Amino acid sequence: MVNAWTQLRINKDRLIRRIEDLAKIGGLEGGGVCRLALTQEDKLGRDQVVTWMKELGLSVTVDKIGNVVGTRPGELSGPAVMTGSHIDTVRTGGPYDGNLGVLAGLEVAQVLNDAGVKTKHPFSVAFFTNEEGSRFAPDMMGSLVHQGVLDLDEALLTKGIDGTTVQENLKNIGYDGAEEVGQCRAHAFVELHVEQGPVLEIEDVTIGAVDGVQGISWTELTIGGVSNHAGTTPMSMRTDAGYAAAAITCFVRKLAEEIGHPQVATVGMVKLSPNLVNVVPNKAVMTVDLRHTCEDTLLSAEKRFFEFLEELKEKEGVSIEHRSLARFEPVVFAEEMIQRVEAQAKTLGYSVKRMPSGAGHDAQIFAPSCPTSMIFVPSVKGISHNIEEFTEASDIEAGGNVLLQVLLDKLMNE
Ligand code: GLV
Ligand code: MN
Ligand code: MN
Repeated sequence: MVNAWTQLRINKDRLIRRIEDLAKIGGLEGGGVCRLALTQEDKLGRDQVVTWMKELGLSVTVDKIGNVVGTRPGELSGPAVMTGSHIDTVRTGGPYDGNLGVLAGLEVAQVLNDAGVKTKHPFSVAFFTNEEGSRFAPDMMGSLVHQGVLDLDEALLTKGIDGTTVQENLKNIGYDGAEEVGQCRAHAFVELHVEQGPVLEIEDVTIGAVDGVQGISWTELTIGGVSNHAGTTPMSMRTDAGYAAAAITCFVRKLAEEIGHPQVATVGMVKLSPNLVNVVPNKAVMTVDLRHTCEDTLLSAEKRFFEFLEELKEKEGVSIEHRSLARFEPVVFAEEMIQRVEAQAKTLGYSVKRMPSGAGHDAQIFAPSCPTSMIFVPSVKGISHNIEEFTEASDIEAGGNVLLQVLLDKLMNE
């Protein structure tokens, strides 16, 4: 006998309407979204999603780090089957990164409501504070605190790129909630996300069954040099922090090329001081992002990177201070959950492929404490963290339906 719930499907147009409505908040000229974590734009986005959660009859809690969880009760009162993601964005974000996972979760709640489905387990849809890490490091901050991996006070005292703390910004936007953190366990966690890379599109596959997330290493460097006149200072007499920043940028690029795929290396931020055309820079602050799926390879890339910094200090006479902004070991998702994604995709008639995630995600923080998996859908031209980010409506529908069925499978069974 086929269970009636296996016939349920999401409403693609309703989901896309919510994605488009949310993208108007913090919308950029020419497309794209800027809702950096804990800004006024983030607050307005949060308010909109909370309104939708309440309209769907979910009971909404806000925890001490500002994570928002909307819950639909089940027959049992134990841990919920959870889905969700984030609604903060990078400065030049697209409408799908994170938002798709949250709004697809709301769509699942609506499908369950409309069909009057009583689930065995409670169902929760969450959005987590500061997943992006662009304004406050580390990324995945809200889920780390939620799962008790990062200390609440440490997170609250974190200063952002503008020198203000998480705590003061949470208060400013009114999302310094009362719910305790660190003890929350889910029955299972499933996150739908856009791939943000080119693989699914190139291989013409609709669904990625994500088997893990690569390791991430973020370092901030502060390089000290000596300001001097750009016209009068001979090249041999310079202590140039700008040059050192450029040399590091070139080194990590070559390092990644030498190690080969899937090693990646990015210098995403460089600030020079005094940042003037005719002054040798006396200070550079920059970030280096290294990632690999294998921990040993990532460790050896980090080792070579730090060795290069020592050589550069010696050769150029600059000072270099470093600070870790984030460090995540590679994560492997539960085989049982990966298989559920594969099975539901096949049942629904979609092509599916196992793949690792190159980006960090809230789901990876849940992986050690409950059965966890992720579902990827294709990103057109593999573009993300860019206002051009786009995913076809048919792929959103496919991902939403796989999410619905994987969640139902966990919600209705043991
Ligand atoms: C989050 O988007 C990341 O940088 O992986
Ligand atoms: Mn994301
Ligand atoms: Mn992102």
